[in-house]
Amino acid sequence: MARRIRRHANPFHATNQVGPLDRMAVFGREAPLEVDIGCGGAGFLFERAKNHPEVDFVGFEVRLPVVQEAMARRDRLGLKNVVIYYANAHENLQGLVPPGVIRAFYVQFPDPCFKKRHHKRRMLKPVVVRRMAELLPMGGYVYAQSDVKPLAEEMYEFLAAEAALKSTLDPILTVPSPIDERTEWERHHEKNEEPIYRMWFEKVAEPSGPIPELEFRDTNPRRVEG
Ligand SMILES: C[S@@+](CC[C@H](N)C(=O)[O-])C[C@H]1O[C@@H](n2cnc3c(N)ncnc32)[C@H](O)[C@@H]1O
Repeated sequence: MARRIRRHANPFHATNQVGPLDRMAVFGREAPLEVDIGCGGAGFLFERAKNHPEVDFVGFEVRLPVVQEAMARRDRLGLKNVVIYYANAHENLQGLVPPGVIRAFYVQFPDPCFKKRHHKRRMLKPVVVRRMAELLPMGGYVYAQSDVKPLAEEMYEFLAAEAALKSTLDPILTVPSPIDERTEWERHHEKNEEPIYRMWFEKVAEPSGPIPELEFRDTNPRRVEG
């Protein structure tokens, strides 16, 4: 079975600040907005941008050559409603746009960062969940997926700890994707018939109070599942 190599970049090396996003300058309009954090080559965003021309899409990615290739592909495809930024998503949600403007976030197959000293690099942390909850309108959603079961459990725990969000795929399910578009990693796992753990949370209240303090888990399946 073909294995995919995870090429890790230190997200903290991407220090640029994207916000506040001038949507008129970038997209020429203020349409509904969706954001994919850790979008890789952005195949998912391109499919979605083609299927939803009435929506604008932003991707964040910390591997510069991947961003450059994605932007070149975007230009070849002639898609004006998507842009990929070389930027650390952790540092770029606060102040990106006014609260309530982003109708959907995608967190798909984030790097598991197994080493303890790299846990803080994980995409989904309580503070990132809070920022997403602030930027969503009521009824907006976070769709997250992983192929690493213990990481998916951590992601679910962090999302569920934010009282502003409520799971609508409860518990984590290995259901077929609820949306039409696929990421590169998703296609790979589907082709190999490997499990994918999916979760969908909707905003049900304005976030308030302190950000939940939660511990990262040891998510290495070799150790966790024995
Ligand atoms: C395993 S890939 C998945 C890519 C894509 N979502 C997919 O499913 O095909 C994870 C991606 O997240 C990027 N990444 C990791 N940390 C990030 C961060 N803090 N901000 C933005 N991108 C990040 C990595 O460089 C990598 O391209």
